[in-house]
Amino acid sequence: MPLLFERIKDIRNHLERLRCDEGKSIGFVPTMGYLHEGHKALIRESKVQNDVTVVSIYVNPTQFGPSEDYERYPRDLDRDMAICEELGVDVVFTPSDEEMYPEGFSTNVNVSCITEILEGEFRPGHFRGVATVVLKLLNIVQPDRAYFGEKDYQQLKVVQKMVKDLNLPIQIIPVETVREKDGLAFSSRNVYLSEEERDSALSIYKAFQLAQKMISEGKRQSEVLINAMEDLIRSHPHVTKIDYITITDPELSPVQEVREGDRILIALWVGGTRLIDNWKIKL
Ligand code: PAF
Repeated sequence: MPLLFERIKDIRNHLERLRCDEGKSIGFVPTMGYLHEGHKALIRESKVQNDVTVVSIYVNPTQFGPSEDYERYPRDLDRDMAICEELGVDVVFTPSDEEMYPEGFSTNVNVSCITEILEGEFRPGHFRGVATVVLKLLNIVQPDRAYFGEKDYQQLKVVQKMVKDLNLPIQIIPVETVREKDGLAFSSRNVYLSEEERDSALSIYKAFQLAQKMISEGKRQSEVLINAMEDLIRSHPHVTKIDYITITDPELSPVQEVREGDRILIALWVGGTRLIDNWKIKL
């Protein structure tokens, strides 16, 4: 079983011994729990690259808006611990809200510009919560490497920017999105979907495939590709709202004509569930 810590001072003492006395390298996988294949890929990568792997499981309240799913976000620590054990995780950190945000807490991390578009537009304050908790977790764990999934592409870019701007001596390692056999990206929020809704959620992957096919046929105009993807998505009955379908360069600036490595980013609602996904364009 991995060692489980709830207190910052305890995990700090333990990791300091491993890092300083035993010279071990530390890999860190921050999560909100309800672990799935996407998290498992991050953990496996960390296991390959580091002596010790630490996983945090913390549903961070400050990254949820007032009308979002903080309360109903799926939680199952026993199941998560069993997965961590199976994968050979060394340390699990499950702090309480009081531990992370004690009374009087008043500091926040604001990464400007990149946090104001896309997710930032539809979820105001979200990235402030993410950047703050990630910086706190990185300061607590002090890993050599930290692992983030490309599924949350904008989050990955925000974390990379924060780490660069604040000169943190930590390598951020992106890990490719893991998909179910039919293409649906693994996400803890997939448990909210009924069978019919899951069918409509697949429209995201189908849209990526359609765009990729059009690109391979020589169509390069973002507007043409976006219109085709939107038509396909709107033909799915349980898609209740599209927040955005956009094509950007790897740094999230919109492009008019696609090039290798550009990203298609989609956020939409299926019933009451908001899903995001993205696709790296191949020419
Ligand atoms: O991607 C997530 O699960 C969360 O946003 C993170 C990085 C663990 C911060 O709470």
